[in-house]
Amino acid sequence: MRKQIVAGNWKMNNGLIQTESLIADLKRQTKVSNAEVMIAPTYTNLWHAFQSTKQTEIEVIAQNMHYAENGAYTGEISAGMLKSIGIQTVILGHSERRAYFNETDEALAKKVDAALAHDMRVIFCFGEELSDRKAGNEQAVVESQIKNALFHLNDAAYKDIILAYEPVWAIGTGETATPEQAQEMHAFIRKTLAQKYGNETAESVSILYGGSVKPNNAREIFSKPDVDGGLIGGASLKAEDFFAIVNSF
Ligand code: PGA
Repeated sequence: MRKQIVAGNWKMNNGLIQTESLIADLKRQTKVSNAEVMIAPTYTNLWHAFQSTKQTEIEVIAQNMHYAENGAYTGEISAGMLKSIGIQTVILGHSERRAYFNETDEALAKKVDAALAHDMRVIFCFGEELSDRKAGNEQAVVESQIKNALFHLNDAAYKDIILAYEPVWAIGTGETATPEQAQEMHAFIRKTLAQKYGNETAESVSILYGGSVKPNNAREIFSKPDVDGGLIGGASLKAEDFFAIVNSF
């Protein structure tokens, strides 16, 4: 059985005080689904968030990392550093990283390798822009993003890979892919994996959907057979909304 996962990407939101209070709110929520729950606070609050969620079912994860082990990369954080404070999972390739920080498929392939070398799990994000979809190129774009960053891996590596399809036009816009559009793309992603690695591996990988998932649309999106959860931005900043989504399975 594939894991169901709901991960909250806090992006560049919440200082220490807000982080403490949001985590306190999250701890007051009740989980009635089997989904794994993750939150990704900013770097400065990772250690604190990790400590304060230790006795809970909430896993604290990172939003990004560098591929080098250490060295002259001012402002960057390595996989080893994340591991040293207990972080086991990292989001890589978010469209905001690709768009604003010029992250390329090539750099992402190196980041994926570095994370896996540290036995970390990766939530690998990808997705087409609106212009790609309008031109009917969404599958070709997604296929190349996956192939370029992940297809050098062997099939055993996929036990630590979680995929997150996030159409750029749906992120933070309030415009969600329809459940049918999400299912169609997720099925295509699984087929792409199956062609390279076989059915068993393809069926074992969790594929999350991200892009304006809210309490009022999560249930329908998560009901689709190839959608195994969500990567949640805006709605992860309110504990009640986030847990309403977690409990949508
Ligand atoms: P959103 O963000 O839920 O605010 O659209 C999703 C994401 O960027 O992961």
